[in-house]
Amino acid sequence: MPDTYVGAIDQGTTGTRFMVFDHSGNVVANSYEQHEQIYPKPGWVEHDPTEIWENTKAVVTAGLDAADLDATQLEAIGITNQRETTIVWDRETGRPIHNALVWQDRRTTDRVEELEEAGKIEMIREKTGLEADAYFSATKTEWILDNAEPLKLESARTRDLRERARDGELLMGTIDSWLIYNLTGNHITDVTNASRTMLYDIEGLSWDAELLEEFDIPESMLPEVRPSSDEATYGTTDPDGFLGAEVPVAGALGDQQAALFGQTCFDAGDAKNTYGTGSFYLMNTGEEAVESDHGLLTTIGFQMSGEPVQYALEGSIFITGAAIEWLEDVDLIKNAAQTAELARSVESTDGVYMVPAFTGLGAPHWDGRARGTIVGMTRGTRKEHIVRATLESIAYQTRDIAEAMEADSGVETTTLRVDGGAVKNNFLCQLQSDIIQTEISRPEVDETTALGSAYAAGLAVGYWDTIDELRDNWQVDRNFQPEMAPEQADKMYGRWDDAVERSRDWAHE
Ligand code: G3P
Repeated sequence: MPDTYVGAIDQGTTGTRFMVFDHSGNVVANSYEQHEQIYPKPGWVEHDPTEIWENTKAVVTAGLDAADLDATQLEAIGITNQRETTIVWDRETGRPIHNALVWQDRRTTDRVEELEEAGKIEMIREKTGLEADAYFSATKTEWILDNAEPLKLESARTRDLRERARDGELLMGTIDSWLIYNLTGNHITDVTNASRTMLYDIEGLSWDAELLEEFDIPESMLPEVRPSSDEATYGTTDPDGFLGAEVPVAGALGDQQAALFGQTCFDAGDAKNTYGTGSFYLMNTGEEAVESDHGLLTTIGFQMSGEPVQYALEGSIFITGAAIEWLEDVDLIKNAAQTAELARSVESTDGVYMVPAFTGLGAPHWDGRARGTIVGMTRGTRKEHIVRATLESIAYQTRDIAEAMEADSGVETTTLRVDGGAVKNNFLCQLQSDIIQTEISRPEVDETTALGSAYAAGLAVGYWDTIDELRDNWQVDRNFQPEMAPEQADKMYGRWDDAVERSRDWAHE
């Protein structure tokens, strides 16, 4: 009998990864492909769903080939994905009727302000745990239905999208649903992804009728909501399809929840921060949906088959790793690895603060009209200062969240588990530990997002029996302890708020 494994498709903001894990959580295959970022107007961000599906097939095939594996050796596939990004497609043809509106897309900010004026914010927070924002899928779905091209019939008549939605001809979903649909033919999402749509009642665990009415979204468009690890499975791949095998798709989690799971943050009080395009700091709060008074989101952390939902508090920071990409785009650095050396070459930023509010500010400020700002420059400011200020902005934004998290949960985080591309940077990890005055723990497998979804799928089909087995797989790579005096950290962080103030409420047409 050949060895068997579990596969994970990690469909992120910049690209799609396929990984295969063995029973000890080791990586046995890994392939990746980027997709196009489409910016039709300032503040608008789109992806082509067809390109995403084609890339998914390509990375799965390439990953298996490179590792000399056969699809029949996969006991299950898990899915994890950029959350909130919204696709509407034709139920019959499976073709998208518009590009995906990406989570970073700000085009519906006006609509959110309308909701604010109509006094609906509190109701939205109570039901969904979310701070009403263009970030989530509800206003994105509404925009697509109102603005995508209508269907042209042969009779030269057109059929309006609202009418088609009401007649059950259209489906809506986040990226997990899009992939599950294409892999299995079933229209399904998991609870974590549903909790990011701003349409889902996170305590009642159902699509919310009042919200569906507000955005005029018929329930028939929406996917069936299932646990993140589902013994019943979401369906199987088509043996006559690209994979050539019948593999159960048995787990799905939004990528930040997948990282929480992959970091084995299974108990209330466990927390992780992922440094990707943005940073997402999640704390498991167990079976209690803790309400935030400090600008955090209450969201679903995960749900195992037949078990109650586990909740989390989340601080969503929109831009962290993407700020480093921006330094590259404007030729201040050649590659991300250079940032540590440049930042180290100066003792401080010389008073420069950089607020990377390129797509507005998320938690805890929630200002869709904030924009990127650099303050405190003098004639003596050099690129090294700006690079250092950019790395510091990542650490300060995380401190904003750490403080809010502590205030809301009453739990002091003594160790923060970190993952994501930017944590390879030791300078950043040390800086992060200094600024929040907490131990930072970096695991050996830093692709915890993919690992988390593989765990969810593998548990569902009995590849792993209990979550305790997974705890044993978690190994530390390096711990970073605070080396900076607390007074110095407070002093540096002290002016961050002033800089944030200056970035606020900037974008107006
Ligand atoms: O909420 C957005 C988040 O899920 C995106 O994550 O890693 O694709 O930037 P990432």
